Amino acid sequence: MRLTDEEKAMLDGKKGEAVRTCMEMLVTLGKVFDAPCMLPVQSAHVSGLSVRTLGDAGIRWAEDLAASGARVCVPSSMNVIGIDRLQPLGLPAEWCEKQERVVRAYESMGCMNTASCTPYYQGFLPRFGEHTAWGESSAVVFLNSVLGARNNREGGPATLASALTGRTPCYGMHLDENRAGTVVCRVETPLKDISDYGALGHFMATVPQPDIPVFENVPAPATEELVMLGASLAAWGSCAMFHMVGVTPEAPTCGHALKGKKVPQVVFGEKELREHREAMNCAKSRAIDLVALGCPHMSLRQLKEIADLLDGRRIKEGVSLWVQTNLATRGAAADLGYVEAIERAGGIVTQDLCVVLSVPEALGFRTLATNSAKMRFYAPGSNKIDVWYGTTRHCIDAALTGMWTE
Ligand code: F3S
Repeated sequence: MRLTDEEKAMLDGKKGEAVRTCMEMLVTLGKVFDAPCMLPVQSAHVSGLSVRTLGDAGIRWAEDLAASGARVCVPSSMNVIGIDRLQPLGLPAEWCEKQERVVRAYESMGCMNTASCTPYYQGFLPRFGEHTAWGESSAVVFLNSVLGARNNREGGPATLASALTGRTPCYGMHLDENRAGTVVCRVETPLKDISDYGALGHFMATVPQPDIPVFENVPAPATEELVMLGASLAAWGSCAMFHMVGVTPEAPTCGHALKGKKVPQVVFGEKELREHREAMNCAKSRAIDLVALGCPHMSLRQLKEIADLLDGRRIKEGVSLWVQTNLATRGAAADLGYVEAIERAGGIVTQDLCVVLSVPEALGFRTLATNSAKMRFYAPGSNKIDVWYGTTRHCIDAALTGMWTE
């Protein structure tokens, strides 16, 4: 791999042991993928911060790096964690204490404690063509597909290595030739709720060559809908990018998205929508004890929608409603009265937290309802929790009645 003099100095340890280790990790990664060189990155979104992901060895690794004086050299935001630093939620004390240690270690390396999987809702917005090193699979899809920035699906340690060196290996989604669509999907049914976009993502995991889908005939999707589609594609299909014709900067037309390639064509109609919504239900009991929304973390607009749906109503006793968002959006929602409206109904608006990267099972939750295809993907395996999947309105109804009735 070709390295600049500065990169060679990092690899030789001239900028400290932490930078040497990180550059060695990135060079090894680059060699695996035949990267010809490194690219400078404009920002990093450091992931893999949950106690569940790191384990005790990972926590010690982060603390050792911080103690060695390692400091980020590009703007670096932080991904979700397994606690809410505003409210304890009854999570085990030892878990919370370990999570605080992780946060302190990353903060002392200069990371911004944004603790969210939707940093773009907090103002972190890479521009078109920018090379970045973001972790968090749903955010990666958003960068590549909606903003037109260039980012591979990165693991947590690689994002920290990029934050500390300002480099990422040049391969994959950083290169034009790897960004062409691999399958065209014509959407022939209206997508009315964000859960419909999640079902579309679930469907694409079942078609040939699903790596970079090109979606046609989706009129004016909202940003939140694109976020839910990307999260579903990333979870069910391990995608790093989609093209939405007329939305993705590189896809003013289907031809632009395909870059001259011949690819399979599939149709997503009313039947596919119904089948793939139903396929995501995996609960036996219709009695719900947790409704979890905000995966990925909600926008201000979505919090207003929840506040409006709950207006003047009361969540059933014994049922918890957790609405996930980040610190900045929660602050704005509190100023605008949305947090109070949700809390008045008996719900909780969390910040920082990712339910599936936490331990909701330790609180006795057994069956949850969600409008998130990504949460549906992870919760049964990670948390041993059964899931009902449906529209935002159905999830709120489940919170009010304690039953899943869709
Ligand atoms: Fe975010 Fe956790 Fe969902 S990282 S996308 S809230 S699984």
